[in-house]
Amino acid sequence: HKIGIIGAPITIAQPNMGVDLGPVAMRHAGLIDRFKSLNLTFEDYGDIDVPLEGNFEIDPKTNLKNLDEITKGNESVANKVVEIKKKGEFPLILGGDHSIAIGSIAGLHQFYNNMGVIWYDAHPDLNSGETSPSGNIHGMSLGVSIGIGEERLISINGRYPKIKPENAVIIGARSIDDGEKKIIKERGIRCFTMHDIEKYGMEHVMNEAITYLKERTDGVHLSFDVDGIDPAHTPGTGTPIEGGPSYRETHYALSQLYDANILTSVEVVEVNPLLDQGNQTAEVAVDMMASVFGEKYL
Ligand code: ARG
Ligand code: MN
Ligand code: MN
Ligand code: MN
Repeated sequence: HKIGIIGAPITIAQPNMGVDLGPVAMRHAGLIDRFKSLNLTFEDYGDIDVPLEGNFEIDPKTNLKNLDEITKGNESVANKVVEIKKKGEFPLILGGDHSIAIGSIAGLHQFYNNMGVIWYDAHPDLNSGETSPSGNIHGMSLGVSIGIGEERLISINGRYPKIKPENAVIIGARSIDDGEKKIIKERGIRCFTMHDIEKYGMEHVMNEAITYLKERTDGVHLSFDVDGIDPAHTPGTGTPIEGGPSYRETHYALSQLYDANILTSVEVVEVNPLLDQGNQTAEVAVDMMASVFGEKYL
């Protein structure tokens, strides 16, 4: 399968400037050369145009920030993903903040009857205007994808929910807001927290996730938030949370996904080079993309 790469530099669904530079940071960290040395067939379509300016005021009616601009940006993400899928290519979307999952999943869902998602993240991103402590839409993208929240977001590219809540598997969660806890329980979302990873080990948790999704879905999107990894390895991100899986565990988890051959699309989000030490976080992100696309030690 040819991989179609796009940059989706949305940054205004969270307050830290610089996530718009995520795609260029990952390209500078050698993403393209790594893919070449893996002998992958791919094309880099560059970054799409998205609104980069917002006013960051919470709209009292919706409790959301920058809704117009984020809706528009994610419509563009959805359209581009649809274009890539129609060419028969495997979409790889470089964020951007995690709101881009709204657009990518909205674009992808029309090609599946029963799409699954692996949400590798310190956060479940299951808030809505009703529950969000921040009004930042990057903390709402999984919620939107299962049909919760603002009508304008959940209806991008057609019917909702885009994915059934029971087809979402969260890995590595360790910062879960009260409203999110409720949604996880009520909607039957599978959530492997850091507690589960400590208790059972990453390999076991990933095997459970893979078996579960293989049985019930006809395609699996990996939504990889770099803050899923412990901030010791990925400091360049806006909402770092201590106590995450290591570089080694994450690398292993992603090579399990490659070996299981279940993924049909991938995105990597929340790389912020302006908060980074050097370009360390993008470099780790590139290492992780290499493992999910088949790089082996030997
Ligand atoms: N739960 C917090 C919020 O809703 C943080 C979300 C962080 N999300 C992310 N994609 N990094 O504001
Ligand atoms: Mn996230
Ligand atoms: Mn996160
Ligand atoms: Mn390296």
